[in-house]
Amino acid sequence: MAATADQTLRAVASDETAVDGEGQAAFDRIIEQDSRIEPRDWMPDKYRKSLTRQISQHAHSEIIGMQPEGNWITRAPSLKRKAILMAKVQDEAGHGLYLYSAAETLGTTRDEMMQQLIDGKAKYSSIFNYPARTWADMGAIGWLVDGAAICNQVPLCRASYGPYGRAMVRICKEESFHQRQGFEILLELSNGTPAQKQMAQDAVDRTYAPALMMFGPPDGDSPNSVQSMKWNVKRFSNDELRQRFVDMIVPQAEVLGLTLPDPDLKWNEERGHYDFGELDWDEFKEVLAGRGPCNTQRLERRRAAHEDGAWVREAAKAYAARTAGRQSTELIGA
Ligand code: 3HC
Repeated sequence: MAATADQTLRAVASDETAVDGEGQAAFDRIIEQDSRIEPRDWMPDKYRKSLTRQISQHAHSEIIGMQPEGNWITRAPSLKRKAILMAKVQDEAGHGLYLYSAAETLGTTRDEMMQQLIDGKAKYSSIFNYPARTWADMGAIGWLVDGAAICNQVPLCRASYGPYGRAMVRICKEESFHQRQGFEILLELSNGTPAQKQMAQDAVDRTYAPALMMFGPPDGDSPNSVQSMKWNVKRFSNDELRQRFVDMIVPQAEVLGLTLPDPDLKWNEERGHYDFGELDWDEFKEVLAGRGPCNTQRLERRRAAHEDGAWVREAAKAYAARTAGRQSTELIGA
């Protein structure tokens, strides 16, 4: 049977002996057809590096993101809330693992990525450098942070790199549950006593602007966006997604009976979108430079967890070596 055009293209892309020119042409065609690049396909170094950068930062965000919520597991107000929060924090750990696995297919090991994180050389999402002060922050994080994550990540399910796009499908399904549980926490507090409602409002006031910054700098200051969109990794710009998120949360805030802390927020009939105020980009830069409210604490906690877990990694390695030895003896015996 004759090979299809796609099969021929992929054969060239996967041919490790193909000279760069041929590989590049096959890569370009796959991108042009909005098809997927797989780990064994030829890809430009810049594509590999940029994806490793984005996916590893994303993985680190999931792992560091466990801290502000993990901190509230022992103080959840009921057994039901505790169980839900534990499940959510575990999901985040799982997301980190899918993402490290996807990044590993590009040639950097998980150990290397983890080392970059604990050495303070890797970025992770700015949002996780803010404290979670009250139980209501669990609601605001779920509603706004996971909500922003969904807005940003649903388009990444169509990212041109196969392992990343596929990991994102599962992650987005779980994020959707996370957002709903956050919304529900806020709804209950908002319909509770005046003090509970105030606690919910304070948490939303604290989380709103940092959540909007999760989408990254404004398009004019985003060095990676243009190329990333040409490669079909990002499908929308930072500002487009930020706008989409604002349009989504304004009616949700109304249902919650809470306000969003922005006096410039208003419907713009002409644009068909909500206008919103300028964000404090100096604060964003400070957080990225490691000077946010919790940067030091988050990294110290991560380092301590890594050191505390050393015996588990050693035991797992020793077990794997023993099992491999047993299997090869069995094979020889057979
Ligand atoms: N926090 C920290 N760093 C950020 C950032 C943020 N909110 N936004 C942008 N940056 C960094 C970029 O990583 C880049 O740094 P680098 O060039 O040194 O790698 C620099 O600022 C310039 O930004 P760009 O806009 O040029 O970068 P990108 O094109 O990569 O866009 C992004 C940034 C939108 C975050 C994109 O990388 C992305 O979509 N990443 C995947 C999603 C992700 O990582 N989300 C993090 C949150 S995960 C999460 O929320 C967990 C959930 O459980 C709640």
